[in-house]
This record gives sequence, structure tokens and C-alpha cells, in this order.
Amino acid sequence: MKTSNPFITSGYAGPETFCERKRETAELLSALENGRNVTLIAPRRYGKTGLIRNAMNGLSKDFDQVYVDIYATECLSDFVKMFADAVVSALATPGGKLAATLGRFFGSLRPTMSPQPDGSVKWSFDLAETAVRSSLEGTFDFLASRKRPVVVAIDEFQQVRKYPEENVEALLRSRIQFLPDVRFVFAGSQLRLMSGTFVAPRGAFYNSTDILSLDVIGEAPYREFAERFFRAEGLPFSAEAFSALYRRFEGVTWYVQSVLNRVWQKGAGLRNEEDVDEAVAALVDNRNLVFHDLLRSQGEAARAVLRAVAAEGVTTAPTGRRFLLKHRLGAPSTVVGVLENLVDRELLYRTESGYVVYDRLFAIWLRRLLK
Ligand SMILES: Nc1ncnc2c1ncn2[C@@H]1O[C@H](COP(=O)(O)OP(=O)(O)OP(=O)(O)O)[C@@H](O)[C@H]1O
Ligand SMILES: [Mg+2]
Repeated sequence: MKTSNPFITSGYAGPETFCERKRETAELLSALENGRNVTLIAPRRYGKTGLIRNAMNGLSKDFDQVYVDIYATECLSDFVKMFADAVVSALATPGGKLAATLGRFFGSLRPTMSPQPDGSVKWSFDLAETAVRSSLEGTFDFLASRKRPVVVAIDEFQQVRKYPEENVEALLRSRIQFLPDVRFVFAGSQLRLMSGTFVAPRGAFYNSTDILSLDVIGEAPYREFAERFFRAEGLPFSAEAFSALYRRFEGVTWYVQSVLNRVWQKGAGLRNEEDVDEAVAALVDNRNLVFHDLLRSQGEAARAVLRAVAAEGVTTAPTGRRFLLKHRLGAPSTVVGVLENLVDRELLYRTESGYVVYDRLFAIWLRRLLK
């Protein structure tokens, strides 16, 4: 029987199936073990979460670990619930002291009742504003009270800047800086938001962390990593086909992994570029309904811009005359607004060389439509 698929497309499955990132892992670990907090920034799907997990896997056993992904949080109270839950679940050992600490969280959880349009009522547990803050204090107190050092990784940290409450970062910073035995990793993909917090002189965390920006994995190490698995099974592996795959997705980890996962699944090895094409087509086909829906839910102007950018590949001058005329996009001022909005909603991404459709599979799907 063929060994289980080594090309994982979600989560982390240990160092065996984790490609390269030796330097980044070492940098992250050495910062943490030497008392420095780290900010990890990279576009979506480059492998930030994987890197955090890989580093945590190699972290000295003297450290305890907490990992929390706050992507789904929309306000401070969401954050506090998720953060407290992650901290307590990871660090709490059964015992009386814990119960007392926990009392501080759960004592303040109050159910609220809201009438629904259909006449029924909905109950939900919401933290009152003051309770939110004291629960956050409680969680930090709990962290501070521990005898062992701990690494706390907060993934998708940029969400914090989107909360309706003001100065959440300042609130966090004011506690985080006084926790000598707690090291933090802040990871995020929205460069503008992350820079605003960690790099801009007026940011709440300005100059208080190491900045690690993650690039894609190099082609050669990625090829060697992939080849090893195919060869071990006696399967063919074409370096040219791999190179075509790598270039098609500019080396972005999730896409490369997803295609390799599909190719592996077929069991015939990576023989040629057609194997890549077939896997890519299957990935795009799978998302057909979702992409249709996504496109349909955009306004007319946004749809036109998405199509135009997809058609161009990389769009250097989206408000230039040539581009506007060619794609019949109307006034530059309108297009500027639409572009900004699409970038904010992560449908477009702005690279150094121009705008691209963020989701590369969506770009391929859009180009198919244009044929
Ligand atoms: N070094 C690696 N080797 C092999 N697979 C990896 C590596 N890094 C990440 N992956 C895989 O690639 C996929 C994307 O990685 P990951 O989720 O870490 O990216 P991310 O930057 O956190 O993305 P997002 O911004 O969407 O959260 C995951 O399925 C992960 O398992
Ligand atoms: Mg992630």
C-alpha cells in the first residue's frame, strides 16, 4: 500500500512532512529563547501557521506553549473569550488554585436574551464591558503567576485592529510588556494592518518585537523535499514539471502543496506538466460553485476589475489609460476606490510589481471565463 499522503494541505503533521524553513525556524526559536517577542508577517498561504507550529514543536521543553488563532474574532469580548480559553486549556493543571482563577472568568459570563424577528428568543453569553476587561486582566494575571516560562502565539493578530473598541492594542501592550516570562509571537497576513501595529512609529507595539517576514520556500529545497517522497515510493518525478508548478504559483506553499497532494493521490508520480495541469484543473473545478457565487456577489465595477486583473496576470498600472480602455473600466477615480476595496477584502493583493488576484485558483477560474 502507498504510504499516506505526505503533502498536507492543512495543519501541521510534524517535521517529516514540513519542508525547509530551517533558517526561519531557528530565528524564531532563538528570539523566543532569548527573551524577544516576534512578529511574523507574510501574505496568505505562505506558511505562517505551519512555521509557528514547527517552531513550537522544536521549542525547548522548559517552555509551555499556547497557540490561538483569532481570525474569527470581531470584537474585544470575542478576543478575551478565545484568548482565555486557549490559555487555560493549554496551561491549566487540575487543582484548587485553578478553580479560583477560573472563577474570575466564568463568574462574569452572563447570558443575555434577544428577541428574534420570528417571535422566538435567542440566548447568548456575552461579557459585559467591565467584565471583559477584568477577564483579560485575569488571564494575564494567570499567565504572570506561573512558575514556568511560556510562549504564546497569537495567529491572525491583525484582527485586533478591526475591533470596534478603541486602543485594544494599547491595552494588550500595557500588560504584555510586563510579563517577563511570557514570550509572544504575533502572526498576520495583512501587511498594512500589521505594519501599523508593529513597524510604524506610532504603532502600539512599535519596536517591541523582532520582525520576521516570511518569503516563499526556495524552488530547489522545495523540489528536493517533494522528490524524496516520490522516489521513496519508486515513482517518477520530473524536475521540469515541478518547476512549472512552482512558477505557476510563484512558490506559494498552499498551492504547491495542494497540487502535489493531488498528484500523489493519483499514484503515478509527477511525470510531466500534464499531471500538474490535471491537478490544477481538479482544484479549480472543485471550487466552481464557490467562485461563481463569489463573483456574483460583487458589484458590477468590482467584477469588471477582477476580470481585468485576472486577464492581465500582474497589473502594473490599473489606473493607466491603456488598461482602463482595454477593459472598458471607466474613470480612474472609480477604479481607485474599487481597487482599494478589493484589496481590503483580500480579493486582490498588491505585490511589488502590481496587483494580482489574491486567490490564484480564483484567478485561473476567472481566466477560464474569459476564454
Ligand atoms: N514548510 C512547509 N512544508 C510543507 N507544507 C507546509 C509548510 N508550511 C505550510 N505548509 C502547508 O501549507 C498550507 C498553508 O500553510 P499555512 O496554513 O501555514 O499558511 P498561512 O500563511 O498560515 O496561511 P493563512 O494566511 O491562510 O492562515 C498548510 O496546509 C500547511 O500545512
Ligand atoms: Mg495561518
